[in-house]
Amino acid sequence: MMIWWEMIYIYLGCLLLVLYYLFSKSNNYWESKGIPFEKPFLFFGSMYNLIMRKESFFETVRAIYKKYKTPYVGIYIFNQRHLLVRSPELLKKILVKDFDKFINRNVAANESVDPISFHSLFSAKDTTWRNIRAKMSPVFTSGKIKLMLPLMKECGRDLTEYLTKNNGETLDTRNVTKKYSVDIISSCAFGINSNCLKNENSEIMKVATKLLNFNTFVRSISVLSFFFIPKFVDIFRLTFGDLTSANYLMNIFKDTLKEREERKIVRHDLIDLLNNLKNNETVDDEYKFDDIKMAAQAITFFAAGNDTTSSTISFALYELALNKEIQDRLRQEVRESFDKVGDFTYESIQEMIYLDMVLTEALRKYPLTTSLNRVVNTDYTFEETGLKLDKNLPAYIMIRNIILIQRNSFQNVSVKDLLY
Ligand code: HEM
Repeated sequence: MMIWWEMIYIYLGCLLLVLYYLFSKSNNYWESKGIPFEKPFLFFGSMYNLIMRKESFFETVRAIYKKYKTPYVGIYIFNQRHLLVRSPELLKKILVKDFDKFINRNVAANESVDPISFHSLFSAKDTTWRNIRAKMSPVFTSGKIKLMLPLMKECGRDLTEYLTKNNGETLDTRNVTKKYSVDIISSCAFGINSNCLKNENSEIMKVATKLLNFNTFVRSISVLSFFFIPKFVDIFRLTFGDLTSANYLMNIFKDTLKEREERKIVRHDLIDLLNNLKNNETVDDEYKFDDIKMAAQAITFFAAGNDTTSSTISFALYELALNKEIQDRLRQEVRESFDKVGDFTYESIQEMIYLDMVLTEALRKYPLTTSLNRVVNTDYTFEETGLKLDKNLPAYIMIRNIILIQRNSFQNVSVKDLLY
């Protein structure tokens, strides 16, 4: 008679065979399309080195990117098929000319599990994305940003105070710029003084650090699932951002909104702008704001705006420290501008061309995003090559590689040559 553990081995063996069959079947996709592809390995797809923690995602994809010289390469991430696009012409089609077919990003969105990320511009899909984008675009007009400048200048004063107080000390630049960025975004998006520069134990600073921290095992599996195993998001009811932090920000948003309405406070910040958008909605509006949808926009700005801004400033400061002549020239431009007007105004900042050059160069040299991804929302053919993309196929665009190629053509040009 068979003993119980023999039965378990047989069941496990059968299960592995079924899984092997399923993965092998889906792993034939690129071969059937007749384009170059990176041979998949079982359920790891093309990501064996990443899963074994031998390489980062960027290193794995960069190795594939460099290995092929074709306009695109088929890759597998687990058993998901992705098209790694290399040709600049095809990238332009995806991101510009035929953008209406590629508006969706390859990230899971489940309204009942995670309404905040569902209504965020990063994860929203199709008409939801179009509707939110149409509503939010006016928020970025120069007139609206100009009205927020006094709020930003208040944080600038706190930064000056902080630096004066710590004069002579060794400071962690990244930490200071993060405090400064969180103070600005909290003020402009949530209407609150987070006081990160004034208070070492600011609650909002903790929230900003935790919201998109994917360093723990559970959080890293969670974010991986959002991009590559969307079924796990539904099954395990995963949220993109840390739930406690997102709820904390949601409550701040709701309390501030309530206070604004009760006390008729006007601050010209994002809360005011969102509230005005809501109050001006008509019965014909396809997408109507409620508290959750409005808070989702503020939380998106908070998450998208703080690390990007602080890292960019940190990299720029690092380059300025290395290049004294550039630092001196920039300081001269800022001083002259201030002396002319006696203040920093929206217009005077726009006129600081050298400042713009320094920041643009910092972004070119240290691009913060490694890749963009887009999902095609219809069956689509690249006329140039005849490749047919099936609806819902994700395409990967390695921004860093494009910049690296560009960098190679500037190989003998130093930052100094570009900026001086
Ligand atoms: C140097 C600073 C920044 C960098 C490098 C940066 C980079 C990016 C990138 C690469 C994307 C994705 C674009 C795509 O998928 O095509 C993006 C989207 C976005 N960013 Fe930023 N960002 C920065 C600052 C900010 C700030 C300060 C905010 C808000 C206050 C913000 C809000 C957003 C939003 C809402 C989206 C989604 C747009 C949409 O889908 O329509 N970003 N950003």
